[in-house]
Amino acid sequence: ANNGCQEWKTIFVTGGAGYIGSHCIVSLLEAGYDVVAVDNFANAVEAVGQDNVCEAPSLQRVEQITGKKVTFYRCDLLDRDRLSEVFLKHKIDCVIHFAAMKAVGESMQVPFLYYKNNIMGTINLLEIMAENSCYQLVFSSSCTVYGDPGNALPITEDHPTGGVTNVYGRTKYFIEEMLKDLSLADNKWNIVLLRYFNPVGAHPSGLIGEDPTKPFANLMPYMAQVAIGKKPSLTIFGTDYDTADGTGIRDYIHVMDLAEGHVAALAKLLREPDLRLKAYNLGTGKGISVLQLVHTFESVTGTKVKLELKGRRAGDIVSMYADPRLALKELNWVATRSLEEMCKDFWNWQTKNPNGYRGNSSKLASCK
Ligand code: WQD
Repeated sequence: ANNGCQEWKTIFVTGGAGYIGSHCIVSLLEAGYDVVAVDNFANAVEAVGQDNVCEAPSLQRVEQITGKKVTFYRCDLLDRDRLSEVFLKHKIDCVIHFAAMKAVGESMQVPFLYYKNNIMGTINLLEIMAENSCYQLVFSSSCTVYGDPGNALPITEDHPTGGVTNVYGRTKYFIEEMLKDLSLADNKWNIVLLRYFNPVGAHPSGLIGEDPTKPFANLMPYMAQVAIGKKPSLTIFGTDYDTADGTGIRDYIHVMDLAEGHVAALAKLLREPDLRLKAYNLGTGKGISVLQLVHTFESVTGTKVKLELKGRRAGDIVSMYADPRLALKELNWVATRSLEEMCKDFWNWQTKNPNGYRGNSSKLASCK
């Protein structure tokens, strides 16, 4: 894709086999980019192809959706030599960095695993980018970096970051700070930080969706598993919050809106080679409560979700939703898909793939 002044062709996507990565690659291919994706399958389903080559079923589905090829390598960002070997095989114009461990609860149990994986992995990636004279980066960040916004809502990008209490969120905050220091030290770096709110939904084809291989706690995937009968009930964590219906409020955004936000961020970096570093909220700007999402899901899917009303979950904040105006103004991007579409598309994925990418054998393949 180009805008006349320079041509970008190849985008390197870390964590490409994952939920957000795979959906983003659909939008990148459809925007005319070539994609080189890497993943260590820490939280994505792997398959074993001919002569024991590792394949990513999610990316095979992406090829089915787009009719275009994705170059894929199994690679852990902590394996610096492997990452270097893969990176220099291609002329990479820009990197989109999704790869990270992201379970808030787990991050409190094994902080070192999170600091090593998320931060060391990013340092390796940045060093190898610089070794190959690639200084264009879109970083997958999170609204978690704002900590608890209190009533400073809808939240804007200039809200102070860092008041984060969970390790996962702190790794995202620390990496943002590292990138700011890098950008100040070397003006060759051109970086966009995308702060996601709560990504949900799936590609409308139902061919790709969320299929974590690790235990997960996020509301939408858990609710869908209850609705298809794979889990007995959904726990509502806290019904005594100071909100209209007593449950927590979040900004749920369709994963395809999020994917398109990444294409818009690439265009921004391409247009403004001296942007240096800028953060953008990728959210809808609408605060939706847990019960609002449950009721919308039930009416869209025609299912009844069995609920257990319990106390608040440690570390949860009451309310978080975006002021999305800066992304509209500077990236010319806005979320367009409704809460109903998020529920319909996720349900379509879930009912077409009750065992996710594992097909009818729920056992996980593992490459050598
Ligand atoms: C949403 C709401 C819960 C599960 C985290 C990370 C964020 C991102 C998304 C990685 C809250 C309630 C949830 C359940 C419930 N992570 N809930 N019952 O905590 O907003 O954000 O996941 O990219 O960075 O911080 O997402 O889906 O866990 O919770 O009542 O079984 O649903 O209390 O109000 P969260 P969530």
